[in-house]
Amino acid sequence: MSDLAALVEKPNVDVAIASLQDEGIHDDSRRLVEYDDKTVAIPITEPPSNTRVEDVIEQIDPDPRIVDLPTVLRERGFSEADIERAPSSWAVIGDVILVRFGDCDRREAVAEALLDLHRGADTVVDRGGISGEMREPDIEVIAGDGETETIHTEHGTRYALDLAKVMFAPGNKAERARMGETVDSGERVLDMFAGIGYFTLPMARAGAHVTAIEKNPTAFQFLSENARLNAVEDRLELLLGDCRDVVPIRVNAGDAYDRVVMGYYDAYEYLDPAISALEPGGRIHMHEATPEALFPERPTERLHRAVDAAGREVSSMETRRIKSHSQGVVHAVLDATID
Ligand SMILES: C[S@@+](CC[C@H](N)C(=O)[O-])C[C@H]1O[C@@H](n2cnc3c(N)ncnc32)[C@H](O)[C@@H]1O
Repeated sequence: MSDLAALVEKPNVDVAIASLQDEGIHDDSRRLVEYDDKTVAIPITEPPSNTRVEDVIEQIDPDPRIVDLPTVLRERGFSEADIERAPSSWAVIGDVILVRFGDCDRREAVAEALLDLHRGADTVVDRGGISGEMREPDIEVIAGDGETETIHTEHGTRYALDLAKVMFAPGNKAERARMGETVDSGERVLDMFAGIGYFTLPMARAGAHVTAIEKNPTAFQFLSENARLNAVEDRLELLLGDCRDVVPIRVNAGDAYDRVVMGYYDAYEYLDPAISALEPGGRIHMHEATPEALFPERPTERLHRAVDAAGREVSSMETRRIKSHSQGVVHAVLDATID
């Protein structure tokens, strides 16, 4: 793949970068370079469709951008001990930087350095836990303009969200993409824990018809907005409510689905309605936070027990690790075909 860059007149650089980020094509693994007296070359992954640029060129000798926080902190006089306590990873979600600062006691100064490393970002938040049935995040604004509402683009899917009000798991990025690649166009999918559309949107963009249920009114509001933002309203049925109440109503009305997605750590408690909604030969994706010692036996047994109780059969099953959930616990997903 060639290293493309957009040529932009110097006074318009900031506006152009923001627009290229909006399009999800700004490549911040390479540095901006001066092209001539008037223009700057901004690295991009593909030619822009909405951003006005002078030209698009191929960079013969691109300048890789070292996203190296320790180097920046050292330049700012941080001691090695302070650098040691600084976060080693973070996520840029739209124009918000999500960091677990842990025991770092120079959060503000580190946050300012991160804002300089990620020019398109405006706010840095300290990422606490996610709690309750509605999976509400605990965050604290550390630096920047404090705006936590943003639009995040991932694999072409746009997610509008407010990181102070709804969760976003950077570590589920590959799983979100996988769900978009796994579905067939036209298949009927039930997403029982839709949130802002983490899985629903990639699946709908891939052509699936998704019935998405979400209990949290704030997350549901973003889900509705994201349906419009990704122009997939015609393939989505959005239902605000508790899936334990909604699914039986659907099943009694004769609805059945080719695929049921359960992106919730306590999903095993909802297997009965999920299985009742699945067509024979349909696929189920059950997420779980599983102690390493019980993986993959526990989610497997839980599914077998529920399928047996429904008088049905598991014809194929795979378990996979999505990410580390916490010390000794894995975020797992079980994919199975139920006859
Ligand atoms: C963990 S989040 C979804 C995370 C998503 N799978 C991901 O990959 O990031 C689970 C969502 O399910 C919603 N939820 C929890 N219990 C529910 C229920 N009984 N019915 C419908 N939605 C529910 C929560 O409000 C939350 O938005």
